[in-house]
Amino acid sequence: MDSPERHSHSTHASEEDIRNRDIFIYINGELVPREEAKVSVYDSGFMLGDGMWEGMRLYNGRWAFFDEHMDRLFESCKAVDLNIGMTRNDIREALDHTAKANGMHTDVHCRLMITRGVKVRPFQHPSLSQSGPTVVMILEHSKPVDSLQKRGIRLATVPQVRGLPMSQDAKYNSHSKLNCVIGCLQAEQAGADEGLMLDPHGFVNTTNACNFFIVRKGEVWTSTGDYCMNGVTRQNIINLCRDNGIPVYEKNFSLVEAYGADEAFLTGTFGAQTPVSEIDGKPIGENGGRGPVLEKLQKLYADLVARNTR
Ligand SMILES: Cc1ncc(COP(=O)(O)O)c(C=O)c1O
Repeated sequence: MDSPERHSHSTHASEEDIRNRDIFIYINGELVPREEAKVSVYDSGFMLGDGMWEGMRLYNGRWAFFDEHMDRLFESCKAVDLNIGMTRNDIREALDHTAKANGMHTDVHCRLMITRGVKVRPFQHPSLSQSGPTVVMILEHSKPVDSLQKRGIRLATVPQVRGLPMSQDAKYNSHSKLNCVIGCLQAEQAGADEGLMLDPHGFVNTTNACNFFIVRKGEVWTSTGDYCMNGVTRQNIINLCRDNGIPVYEKNFSLVEAYGADEAFLTGTFGAQTPVSEIDGKPIGENGGRGPVLEKLQKLYADLVARNTR
């Protein structure tokens, strides 16, 4: 039987940590107590979702896969003419400064947000943002809840798709996540934890918050990557497969093949790899989506993080 808790289980469920009540938030070079951390109602991010963000993790005092996150951030900001006004090194120093001020060293999650900044009038045109970008860093003590690994995630296929790159390219980690939020709402309405989103051709693509993988007969499959976030964790998993002799394919596949998978899992910075226990009410594999391939990849990924944050 489902418990009420079962209904609020998402891939970003984290353990309650009371230390997060009194944290300092970085806003444009200032450290501000959480309760006072506010941006203008004229901010482009608030008004239009006009901004980019990165989710990153701090382990052992080091930002995991910092270069990869900066590559994605700077590339997407360049594509929308958003001048961050800081170098990668400036960003790392600001992150470290904020972590230090908060006494944070490991198991920390950061949401780094850059918007086009405060507008002079409440309209869309980018030229109305005249005072430079708004840069915010929210760092929290953050550990995924154990139940994510134990119970896995239940997915429902949702009507909302991630579209073609000439609409809003899924590779923008934009402040506007409405496409994903709609997918998430549809999954919840279907009684699931997260939405499995198809691509415009009906192939299995990604979820509303993570990248999606299946395992069939020892092979790891994920979508072509054409319509999903170019996830840092997704790429790390593909690289780990290649480096460790695990066959991996970025390919089109259908729901039939996803339902019939031996194992399935999600990838993302927050939760690393999370098993998928069912899709559209159909159980995955024999063991709640888990299996030997996911277990091996989880070990390899933990080693990679440890090496990267040494
Ligand atoms: C829609 C979506 N897919 C996947 C991911 C996972 O990406 P990463 O592995 O870089 O955290 C994210 C993270 O921001 C996301 O927003």
